[in-house]
Amino acid sequence: MRDEISRVVADCEIIEQVEVAPHVFRSVLVEPTIARTSKPGQFVNVRVCECYDPLLRRPFSVHAVDPEKGTFSLLYDVIGRGTKLLMEMHVGEKVSVVGPLGSSFDVGEDPSARHILVAGGCGAAPIHFLSDWICKKHGCDKVTVLVGAKTGTALLCQAEFVAHGVEVKLATEDGSFGFKGFVTELLASHIEESKVKNPDSAIRIYACGPMPMMREVARVCGEQGIKSCQLSLERTMACGIGVCMGCVTKAQDGCCSHHPDEWHYSRVCTDGPVYDAKELIWE
Ligand SMILES: Cc1cc2nc3c(=O)[nH]c(=O)nc-3n(C[C@H](O)[C@H](O)[C@H](O)COP(=O)(O)OP(=O)(O)OC[C@H]3O[C@@H](n4cnc5c(N)ncnc54)[C@H](O)[C@@H]3O)c2cc1C
Ligand code: FES
Repeated sequence: MRDEISRVVADCEIIEQVEVAPHVFRSVLVEPTIARTSKPGQFVNVRVCECYDPLLRRPFSVHAVDPEKGTFSLLYDVIGRGTKLLMEMHVGEKVSVVGPLGSSFDVGEDPSARHILVAGGCGAAPIHFLSDWICKKHGCDKVTVLVGAKTGTALLCQAEFVAHGVEVKLATEDGSFGFKGFVTELLASHIEESKVKNPDSAIRIYACGPMPMMREVARVCGEQGIKSCQLSLERTMACGIGVCMGCVTKAQDGCCSHHPDEWHYSRVCTDGPVYDAKELIWE
């Protein structure tokens, strides 16, 4: 979903820096325009140091906003130099941020629709913002969040989702918490359950996580005949503004033409990161 552009470039003060799980940090930053105008699924591009390594900004989904306080949060896994530098910054320091960028999730206008949100690992970052957004628009009783991780200690945001008042289901690959297996297996069974419990309601699916998970979410949604399945892709990015073509993914021409020859390279930074699953071509 696209809206009018209200992008800012700003030096934002860090007012909170917390480790919420092993190697996973939450940073809260001050920037009133980003806090006021960001939509779930959008991201910001962060310059993690005044140095040449890394030279490029790093993209992070907007994890939460507080428009009254003029703050927004990031939730990130420390996986390389950029995220390590960000994690090492102290409260009171400033970091250069561009945003909000990219497309957002479309939560629709149907008041009776059921919303199933799927978060894999740090994919919980935008799903947390989305859960709060749908609760405010359609009511928390319509929302189920499925959270998956390799092991129980890596499950993210479950307490926050419970605090929102949504239904929360957990899956771990090692079975140390919740359902034993992939969160996508939980998705398939939850869709079936939801169809039985609410036969007259449309089901809307939203997901963010690693690419194999996204591919499986798309497959499950296709198999179950789900009309609205939106996926937020995380691609390595360079310019972040649609110039370098470093972030492209294959997408159908038009929406969902299903003609195998009619495709183009779509820029995840400007056309995405949120896509209708039917638009994407998996290889
Ligand atoms: C739109 C968008 C939103 C994102 N939101 C979040 C978020 O909310 N929280 C979060 O933790 N991460 C998020 N990411 C991923 C995040 O941008 C990368 O983890 C980060 O840029 C890594 O920087 P680094 O310098 O620490 O690691 P690097 O040194 O750049 O890379 C370390 C390793 O990770 C791999 N890698 C780097 N970027 C990605 C990526 N995007 N996807 C898969 N592998 C990658 C590299 O190939 C390398 O092997 C998002 C990415 C995009 C495109
Ligand atoms: S990162 Fe350069 S076009 Fe997307």
